[in-house]
Order: sequence, then structure tokens, then C-alpha cells
Amino acid sequence: MMKAIEVTDLVKNFGTITALNGVSFSIEEGEVFGLLGPNGAGKTTLIRILTTLMRPTAGKAHVMGINVEKEKAAVRKLIGVVPQAMTSDLDLTGLENMDIYARFYDMPRKEREGRIEYLLGMVGLKERSNDLVATYSGGMRRRLEIAKGLVHKPSILILDEPTIGLDPQSRHVVWELLKNSLDEDGLTILLTTHYMEEAELLCERIAIIDYGKIVAIDTLEGLKRQLPDKDIVEITVGGINATKVIEEVKTLTFVHSIIYAEGTLRISVDNGAQAIPLLVGRIEDTGGRVISVLLKQQTLEDVFIHYTGRPIREEEAKKVSFLIGAGVPQKWGR
Ligand SMILES: Nc1ncnc2c1ncn2[C@@H]1O[C@H](COP(=O)(O)OP(=O)(O)OP(=O)(O)O)[C@@H](O)[C@H]1O
Ligand SMILES: [Mg+2]
Repeated sequence: MMKAIEVTDLVKNFGTITALNGVSFSIEEGEVFGLLGPNGAGKTTLIRILTTLMRPTAGKAHVMGINVEKEKAAVRKLIGVVPQAMTSDLDLTGLENMDIYARFYDMPRKEREGRIEYLLGMVGLKERSNDLVATYSGGMRRRLEIAKGLVHKPSILILDEPTIGLDPQSRHVVWELLKNSLDEDGLTILLTTHYMEEAELLCERIAIIDYGKIVAIDTLEGLKRQLPDKDIVEITVGGINATKVIEEVKTLTFVHSIIYAEGTLRISVDNGAQAIPLLVGRIEDTGGRVISVLLKQQTLEDVFIHYTGRPIREEEAKKVSFLIGAGVPQKWGR
């Protein structure tokens, strides 16, 4: 079957900086794929190559089987792009922005009008469509960008950090919107993000990119399975003979390891939620009294730390403060 996106050994150098250092992966049609990585990992560079705005130093990229370097125009028809820097004209209304964009694609007037009305409704901007974009909130501008990206019915929607700098509520609105846009026939989505929650919530598969290399790629569950530590169940017990309980619990096949300290058993298991009743049952059979149970599931954050050796949060903080400094509209009104 044809891949929606196929990237092979992609390299991009800027002078002495290697932004992409041999990246290979593919995305199936209809898939929602997330590229997760810290600042400077190479996400935007990869997207610029896929969207024909930049040539790779080496390697190949194909969109629906078409080479992005050789057939730029054909590739641009197939993709809708929501770039990291917002591109709507602040001096025009939402509707005007949409219309100009649709004209780029030579859509006949009737089709254009219908499509724009549908999309503005879908992103919840129908009532504000005749207001200047300068009067929109950050979240509204993002939603307009997404509507623009979808105007020509692309096969693939590519979004570079679709919720960067948005407050949590607007972020949820954008997530809902992206989920709804999947109703568009067979739409494939590629998005970059450094929000763990965004990748977890939206993406069927996730690639972690760091220093221009993909360090892990799988479904969320698959990525977690690769971690040496599984789910951890912490059970605090009273009135026990610890050695006896540990011996008993160890015989359960899904238990990987047990540490006992200060009345609490820290048990590593495959699936914490399923294991809890069985563990509690076994401990009570052995004469233990269960006082409390805590399940610590592995998160995407744990996966990220495992592969990159550091948490992503500090990167995020830097990025947002940078955006606040840079993202001031220049002009208001016409
Ligand atoms: N036009 C350019 N000229 C020189 N260096 C560049 C250029 N574009 C990107 N780089 C460098 O390439 C590396 C990757 O940058 P890129 O913008 O792809 O990262 P990113 O993962 O999108 O980061 P962010 O999360 O900050 O958006 C960085 O070291 C960056 O400084
Ligand atoms: Mg970027």
C-alpha cells in the first residue's frame, strides 16, 4: 500500500549545524502521527522539507508517492499546512483570509464559498468571520489557521506545534477540532509538538526526535512497553510478615520485581490496573492487611526521559517565554 508520507535517510545541514541527521520513517494513510521533540530537535526543518519549502542536504521524502523535491506543485495540492508561525493577515477578516487562500488553489467560486462556510462553522468562527483577525484571540487565530489548511481538501494535514502558547482551554478546543477534522475522508495528520499530553491524546503513533535523530517510534502503548520499568503498584500493608508476603507475591507470573521498605511494597508489574485486585487478594490471603494502594503508570514523559536522558518540561518553559516576547501583532485595525 502507498504510504501517505515516506522519509528515507533525510539529512539537513545548516553550515556546521546538523538539523536532521539521517531520519527515516513512514506514515500510513489515515493515520494521526506525532513528532515529539524539544527545541531545536529538527521538527520544523523536517516539516519545511516535507512541505517543499526547503531542500534536504541528502536523503528522500515522498508524499503520497510523490517526490517533494521533484514535483513541488503536486505535493502542495496534496498537503494542507499549519505553520509554526501564524500566517493569517491581521488586517483582513477571517472570511477574507480564507477566500484569498482558497483562490491560491483555483477553487471555483461556488465550491470555495461552500467549503469556507463549512470550515468556519467547523472551527467555531462563523459568527466572527466578518471581524478583523487582529481582534481574534490566540486560540481563534489557531483555529482559523487550521480551517485555512483544510480549505482545498488536502489528503494530508501537516501542523507544526498547533497549540504552542495557547492556554489549556484553547488547547482542548483545538484538540477537539483536530479530532473532528478526521471525519474528512481518510485525512492523514502529521503534527509536531513538545506537549506530552497532546501527543498522548491525539496521536496513533509517536516518534521522539532529539538532535535530528528519531530515537523511538511506536504507538503510545508500544513506547511504554519498551521501558525497562513497567507499571508500579505501591501497596502499604499492616500486620505482616514481610518475607512471607514477598515470597508469595513473587510467585505471581506478572510480577517483575518487589522492593519492600517502611511498610510499603513497591511492585513492578505489566499492567497495574489488572494486577491490583490480584495483588491485594494474594497479600490478604497471606495474612497482610492492605492499608492503601497507589498505581504509578508509566507516561510518555517517562519514555522521553528514558530515550533522551532529560525531561521535556524545562524546554517547554523556555519556548513559551520566547513566544510571549516575539508574538506581538504589529498593527491593529485597517
Ligand atoms: N535556516 C536556518 N539556518 C540555520 N540554522 C537553522 C535554520 N533552521 C533551523 N536551524 C537550526 O537547526 C536546528 C533544528 O531547528 P528546528 O527549527 O528544525 O527545530 P524544532 O525542533 O522545530 O525546534 P522548536 O521546538 O524550537 O520549534 C536548530 O539547531 C536550529 O538552530
Ligand atoms: Mg519548530
